[in-house]
Amino acid sequence: MGKIRIGVLISGSGTNLQSIIDACKSEYIPGEVVVVISNREDAYGRERARQAGIPEFFISHKGKSREDFEKELIKVLDRYKVDLVTLAGFMRVLSPYFVKYYSGRLMNIHPALLPAFPGINVQEKQWEYGVKIAGCTVHFVDEGTDTGPIIIQAAVPVYSDDEPEDVRLRILEEEHKIYPLAIKLFAEGRLTIKGRRVIIQGERKKGGVLINPSE
Ligand code: GRF
Repeated sequence: MGKIRIGVLISGSGTNLQSIIDACKSEYIPGEVVVVISNREDAYGRERARQAGIPEFFISHKGKSREDFEKELIKVLDRYKVDLVTLAGFMRVLSPYFVKYYSGRLMNIHPALLPAFPGINVQEKQWEYGVKIAGCTVHFVDEGTDTGPIIIQAAVPVYSDDEPEDVRLRILEEEHKIYPLAIKLFAEGRLTIKGRRVIIQGERKKGGVLINPSE
């Protein structure tokens, strides 16, 4: 299988975008980020794309119907012939129209162990709730909010003297590992969606936790 073409949608600082770019560059992911789209003009992730020489676009959602906005996204993504669309801190809910269009090739990263804590600002919500284990999830996107089939999850501890920011950063560190891993598995053709479950071909485990299956 050749390299896959990846499109990344962002709204913010783009640290996940950076981890995907770096993982493609080092050939950990057999793929290439071919286009980045931000719905926010001031997203720092745009600068990251430019520095990596990746075409980037600002497409505002403001004053547009959801469908018109999404048609603009699709137009650009199709022009760059993407095989996979990854949401990396993209802060817009996508309609069933967009989700169906990229069915089975649309991924998201969420900073909690789904199905606990769907929605936004969930790092702080986990801290407030007092969970002792927080984490993150990479999942395929379906028509619900943060409800799609789960690909990989990683857990992190929450300590008594943590501030919400400590929890956010601890989760983010894991995000930067599991998002590239999920994309790598997709690019290698090793993910199969069976109803709600994602089957990972050639999965290896150590202490019950998924490790890089190529190691
Ligand atoms: C991440 O925590 C991601 O899980 C959430 O938004 C944040 C984006 O961070 N959806 P970044 O823009 O990748 O730095």
